[in-house]
Amino acid sequence: MAYLGRRGHLTLVLRNLAQLDMEQRRTAGAQANQAKRTLEEALARRTQELEDARLAMSATQERLDVTLPGYPVTGGRLHPTTRIIREVCEAFVAMGFSVVEGPEVEWDRYNFELLNIPKGHPARDMWNTLWVDYQDPAGQQSMLLRTHTSPMQARVMESQQPPVRVIVPGKVYRYEATDATHEWHFHQVEGLAVDDGITFADLKGTLYEFARRMFGSERKVRFRCDYFPFVEPGVDMSIDCFACGGKGSGCRICRDSGWIEIMGAGMVHPKVLAGVGYDTAKYTGFAFGLGPERIAMLKYGIDDIRHFYANDLRFLRQF
Ligand code: PHE
Repeated sequence: MAYLGRRGHLTLVLRNLAQLDMEQRRTAGAQANQAKRTLEEALARRTQELEDARLAMSATQERLDVTLPGYPVTGGRLHPTTRIIREVCEAFVAMGFSVVEGPEVEWDRYNFELLNIPKGHPARDMWNTLWVDYQDPAGQQSMLLRTHTSPMQARVMESQQPPVRVIVPGKVYRYEATDATHEWHFHQVEGLAVDDGITFADLKGTLYEFARRMFGSERKVRFRCDYFPFVEPGVDMSIDCFACGGKGSGCRICRDSGWIEIMGAGMVHPKVLAGVGYDTAKYTGFAFGLGPERIAMLKYGIDDIRHFYANDLRFLRQF
């Protein structure tokens, strides 16, 4: 800058040559041009040296070893509960059911009352409920974390006329002391089919087909009487144990019984149909509910339900 710049010493000398006489101009001009060339060459040389040094430095210190192995791409995987939910839904979708979901915070009316579980009825003791500190503006209804996915039976029927064929996966909550087989939140998959002329034979056929799709085509099923206030008759369905083939001696999975209970089911109670305004002389239906965590525990041999929500990668990576 100081010599070669626009106002540099040398630039000024060259610019002012015109003021000198002929003789002086020639020698001064030659010297000034010589000086300018010398400086420019020195500058170019130094610039090149610095550039070479920078390249040499980066070639040794910033070298990229293209032969190094790359960083592994960590692939995500589905949570075992999600996998079972998808498998269950796929089996029923293949049989003509649609998947719907509902709210996890629910009114007493849907969780209990429309399911034939009135206030003060001992059947409420079947569900350990987490109440929410909120009432509707009229002060009539309490809210709770739904204890099962069954409230969606009433919600779906309220919103449409038969035929109904829905499957409802979702999270449910219970006021529960946790242990190896109890969690305060878990999942359920609810099913509901209502139409003109649906019988218990449809329930059996549909659930039998599901059991075979889910647990193998050689499965057998067993229905026993059970009680749920919103079905009549109510049953629980078991499959013959896939671990011991139903032999049941020394088997941990079925605890020697040869059978594994996998769901509750039954014919929709006429009171439930009437509660949503369906014509009970015309329509009948069946409903069922199962727990995907329980199915995952059976299928993968998981011994503690608390593993599902512990977020321990050593557990989750096994699926
Ligand atoms: N909702 C019941 C439960 O949580 C399961 C069930 C659903 C039973 C539908 C019958 C019919 O235990």
